Amino acid sequence: MVEDSSPITIVSTLMSTPSSRRHFLRSAAASIGLAISAASVATLVAGCETDESNPTPSGTTFTLDVASVPELAAVGGISLRLITGLNDGTPVFISRIAQNTFVVFSSACSHAGCEVNPPAAAGADIICSCHGAQFASTDGAVKRQPNSGSATDLKRFPSAFNSTTNILTITA
Ligand code: FES
Repeated sequence: MVEDSSPITIVSTLMSTPSSRRHFLRSAAASIGLAISAASVATLVAGCETDESNPTPSGTTFTLDVASVPELAAVGGISLRLITGLNDGTPVFISRIAQNTFVVFSSACSHAGCEVNPPAAAGADIICSCHGAQFASTDGAVKRQPNSGSATDLKRFPSAFNSTTNILTITA
């Protein structure tokens, strides 16, 4: 999907129209040196066009084969993923904080809802470019408040990892 050897994957972002999403994805990829094929962008945009007006009931579970996500192979890895039906159409970060422990948290800023930026490098903080709030890339804990107002920790989703199957189960 995203051709990159870094521990961070940008899968998607919320934009108002498919064309602006395409433009943003290409711009974002270009700005951090990623290559995304036209087919990949089409797939990503299609993923953004799911019905976001019908929220998923709390308690719904989603599964992810961690073995299919190279960025999560090692402790300290983080991946930004759009999981259809989870988090109202906003991507979530999946952070591997220990061999068998993951933290899943929203990329929607808790201040005013902007989508935060992925960490610039492994271990770097997550920054919201709207008003400057800063969050830990391990668990989304707020580390710096925005320029005005206040932010809280990014919304977390419970998860459980089966080390035998390599399946991470995330609960909405
Ligand atoms: S929306 Fe993120 S700091 Fe304001």
